[in-house]
Amino acid sequence: MGSLGFVGALAQAQQINVICSVQAEWCNMISTVYAKTTGTKVNMTMKGSGEALAQIIAEKQNPKTDVWFGGTGDPHLQAAEQNLTQEYKSPMMKDLQPWALQQAAQSNYRTVGIYTGPLGFGYNPNLLKKKGAPVPKAWKDLLNPVYKGDIQVANPASSGTAYTMVATLVQLMGEDQAFDFMKKLHQNISQYTRSGTGPIKAVARGETAVSISFVHDGPGEKSKGFPVETITPAEGTGAEIGSVSIIKGARNLNEAQKFVDWALTPSAQEMAAAAKQYQLPSNKNAKVDPNVPDFKKIKFINYNYAKYGNSEERKRLIARWEKEINSIPKQ
Ligand code: F6P
Repeated sequence: MGSLGFVGALAQAQQINVICSVQAEWCNMISTVYAKTTGTKVNMTMKGSGEALAQIIAEKQNPKTDVWFGGTGDPHLQAAEQNLTQEYKSPMMKDLQPWALQQAAQSNYRTVGIYTGPLGFGYNPNLLKKKGAPVPKAWKDLLNPVYKGDIQVANPASSGTAYTMVATLVQLMGEDQAFDFMKKLHQNISQYTRSGTGPIKAVARGETAVSISFVHDGPGEKSKGFPVETITPAEGTGAEIGSVSIIKGARNLNEAQKFVDWALTPSAQEMAAAAKQYQLPSNKNAKVDPNVPDFKKIKFINYNYAKYGNSEERKRLIARWEKEINSIPKQ
């Protein structure tokens, strides 16, 4: 091999292709800092959780992605079950919270938790006041006609946030009752967005009064000066286990494993708060920012991650949502 060829091979080895399913500021910080500290170039694509999974399925025969970073845990479990991701036991696992390890064990170590966060509501106090509408405190409150056309949530096919809502309601109410509830809720929804964070951004900017969102996405909007508050529903709510997975057939496997080790370190996980995103980190030694929701104050359901991350179950619930909810006309 000529010397140029050798340099070329080296340069080619030192890169990694990542699909990033957290918000852009955090994705960008990761790729810049990782490249600076390791010399490995990060080629990053940003996609919501459901869209990321769709891309990984589409690339199955010829994977172009090495690592899928972030996004809700259910589609990461589905990817593991469909043999789209591969086992990796990072040495960093010894420092992780039990919920992150449970996610790993459930996938036969094809994914692992990097953060968690509760589902709830975002609301714009100024808009609610103007409408004379109360702050919604419970799932059932969202059916109040006072919110007609003023609630946003994402589409569960593209968004992990919205799928977490569907799975949470099914576990909380029973499946048929949950679909009944979502049918009624449909009458108050102005639009189903592609991205899970779209609705809380719309609340912050005064485009809609209420959103169904992860509550850790609220403080970042508020810190930009927008009027937005969050609350978790009285009946109980679900939480995501944001995850990272290595793609089966990754061309840069060694780099992918190094990236996952790094993503599980305290300093990498503290970048979330530095990018104004306030999920709870999975590394026990990572600092917890005061903006991270206080889990002790929230009523949680006992979310069945194995069941709702199962590929048949996820596909079935999304198809039922498309057929019975998304397609019905609004009155
Ligand atoms: O980055 C914010 C966030 O809420 C993450 O906590 C979550 O994993 C992700 O967005 C989900 O995005 P989406 O609903 O678009 O899949």
